[in-house]
Amino acid sequence: MGGRELIGEDELKELKEVIEHGILMRYGFHEQRKGVYKVKELEDAFKEYMGVKYALGVTSGTAALRVAMAALGIGAGDEVIVPSFTFVATIEAVIESNAIPVIAEIDDTLNIDPDDVERKITEYTKLIVPVHMIGTQADMDRIMAISHKYNIPVLEDTPQACGGSYKGRKVGTFGDIATFSFDFYKPATSGEGGILITNDDRLYKRAEWYHDHGHTHDAPTRALDEHPILGFNYRMGELQAAVALAQFRKIDEISRVQRENKYKIRDAIKEIEGITVRRVLDEEGDIGYGLTFSLPTEEKAVKFQEELQKEGVSTDLLGKNKWHFVANWEHILQHRTASKVHCPFDCPLYKGKYSRFRRDDFPQSSAILNRTLSMGINYYMTDSEIEHIVEAVRRVAERVL
Ligand SMILES: Cc1ncc(COP(=O)(O)O)c(C=O)c1O
Repeated sequence: MGGRELIGEDELKELKEVIEHGILMRYGFHEQRKGVYKVKELEDAFKEYMGVKYALGVTSGTAALRVAMAALGIGAGDEVIVPSFTFVATIEAVIESNAIPVIAEIDDTLNIDPDDVERKITEYTKLIVPVHMIGTQADMDRIMAISHKYNIPVLEDTPQACGGSYKGRKVGTFGDIATFSFDFYKPATSGEGGILITNDDRLYKRAEWYHDHGHTHDAPTRALDEHPILGFNYRMGELQAAVALAQFRKIDEISRVQRENKYKIRDAIKEIEGITVRRVLDEEGDIGYGLTFSLPTEEKAVKFQEELQKEGVSTDLLGKNKWHFVANWEHILQHRTASKVHCPFDCPLYKGKYSRFRRDDFPQSSAILNRTLSMGINYYMTDSEIEHIVEAVRRVAERVL
């Protein structure tokens, strides 16, 4: 879980600078703030690290998705392809944009299956959203090939792989726009917060306007700004940015140590008969956010989890997870929107066939996730803790497999 294990002096120093001059908002107050612009500093650090033209701080990873979709002009009548295995925010952002989420299967990388993406493209598809799940990369070569073939933009949802790479290039820099989160579970955290990146001038401008009530941010005062489009308030605050900045500076160290911890366990268990470790497309670019492995059947996975728990090792059976697998999201399956009108599902502007999906529409994903266990990897893991996990897996394998 990296970031939150490392909160201390660095974060305090950044926060102190903000508190000393008292300007907690990112815009305006130029005289009083004495050159301190933490959101801007965070954006500059992110841009430089990713090697992209633009970064925009926002209030959360969910907000980053919503703002990115607004920048792309996603709206009623559109379809957006997302994976069946993701955090619910990916799909919520599509629904908040009034578009229809079209759910693609995952493959044994636990990321979106490019074959199914291609199968699900229709005349209404306006966006493809690969999500880099549990620290490792979606197949960006194939997804970008599909994007170019059909001329459909790509948004990389990257909160779980911030700092990771694919064939030497940072994840988040392949598509048209990418989103990240600094929530409390993320590799770099400010409690809450998010950021989006892009190389596209137009997308950046629209995102910047939309995230702050349409403000252009170029007049002498906020009151004189123009408003080219309607927007909302997703502005990041200076306190959030101060902590995120201190954390983000440690991102390579967090990834390196977590990756080492993860692969010590992974390499020790991968030859055990009956255990299949996750297929990772580029191990060097894995940030070690979590370790996942599959068992031969669902029954064995359930048993394996129970027995591991008795040994003091907690895991998550991904097929049963109510946070990350669309088949378990009753509220979405039943279209329980906050309003009485069930847009976008009942939207008359939508002419496609994907407004209804059912729990058993994702057999390939279910077959994988129902057999797959996942455990979190920490920055601080002693050799004896790692050894304990490995030995527990070995003992349970002997009993169960
Ligand atoms: C893949 C993915 N997308 C989006 C989000 C949303 O980020 P936040 O919690 O900052 O809104 C998360 C958070 O867990 C995530 O894992």
